[in-house]
Amino acid sequence: MKIRDPHILAALPDFGVDRIPGASLAEHTSLGIGGTTDLLLIQRHSTLPELIALLRGAGIAYKLLGGGTNLLVRDGELPWVILQLAHQDPEVRLEGNSVNVDAAADLGRTVTSCAKHDLGGMEGLIGVPGTVGGALRMNAGAYGTQIGTYVRQVKIYRAADSRIETLWENQISFEYRHTSFAPDDIMLAVKLELPSKPYREIIEGIRICNEKRRSSQPLNQKSAGCIFKNPPGGSAGRMIDELGLKGFSVGDARVSDRHANFFVNSAHATCADMLGLITQVRERVHAAYGVELENEVILWTQ
Ligand code: EPU
Repeated sequence: MKIRDPHILAALPDFGVDRIPGASLAEHTSLGIGGTTDLLLIQRHSTLPELIALLRGAGIAYKLLGGGTNLLVRDGELPWVILQLAHQDPEVRLEGNSVNVDAAADLGRTVTSCAKHDLGGMEGLIGVPGTVGGALRMNAGAYGTQIGTYVRQVKIYRAADSRIETLWENQISFEYRHTSFAPDDIMLAVKLELPSKPYREIIEGIRICNEKRRSSQPLNQKSAGCIFKNPPGGSAGRMIDELGLKGFSVGDARVSDRHANFFVNSAHATCADMLGLITQVRERVHAAYGVELENEVILWTQ
């Protein structure tokens, strides 16, 4: 979608917004799939309510992009503009064991910054790609750790009230790859409370998790991480693997040879290829196990 309304184009600089016309989502997602649209890079959180009111008033649909690492986007000209938060403060801000960090911060860098201050607990999240905001929304987890455990407060743009609010931990529920945030809420910043741990111990934990991940996941290929959530008590990757589907492809979308719940873009996969692969694998798993796998990857395919 191209913003053409001169009134809006003229207002964007006042909101501290940089417009990137015709941005390709294939270049902003880890799968390397997605069409083009105007991307609005937001430099000042405080302007979000007014900016969104302006877009809504003009009938311009929008979506908020985090790190683009757990996302499948449709091809062609996209029917919405993309909002993305610029990373405001590269530093984690400490108050005792509490850490304040921007939602746009890289999750891995946040984990290592905290380690330098002898604050641990999040070692398992080290190889999870993407932003702190994306991790919060999905309650990202790995190796027995999930980010929700450490959340004390979240500052969000609350779409229902069209304003910026701070939620306390008891106002948010964090479950397996699911939270109580509304789909159009926008994470802005978070306060985490982390246990004290010696730096060396944290770094050793990080090293072990990195090793496990490197040996079991296709980290050097274009993917969105795990495609399906694990069903209760089961493993989607193991089920797909047991059906002999590693290497199974639709166009250039392919079930990874390394981890069967990772679907990779092996060359020039389209969104339709990836959706076709997701559908076929889901059907095969359902036929064999009677289990309906739920997507873990977020779809912007309508
Ligand atoms: N397995 C196979 N074949 C495969 C893949 C896995 O037999 O192709 C087996 C493994 O040998 C193991 C079991 O399935 O016995 C579980 O595999 P793994 O330890 O790799 O964990 P997972 O359940 O497949 C989950 C998360 C990952 C996270 C890892 C490590 C989900 C959907 N996936 O994977 O998260 O990195 O644990 O904790 O919860 C993601 O969220 O995108 C993601 C990759």
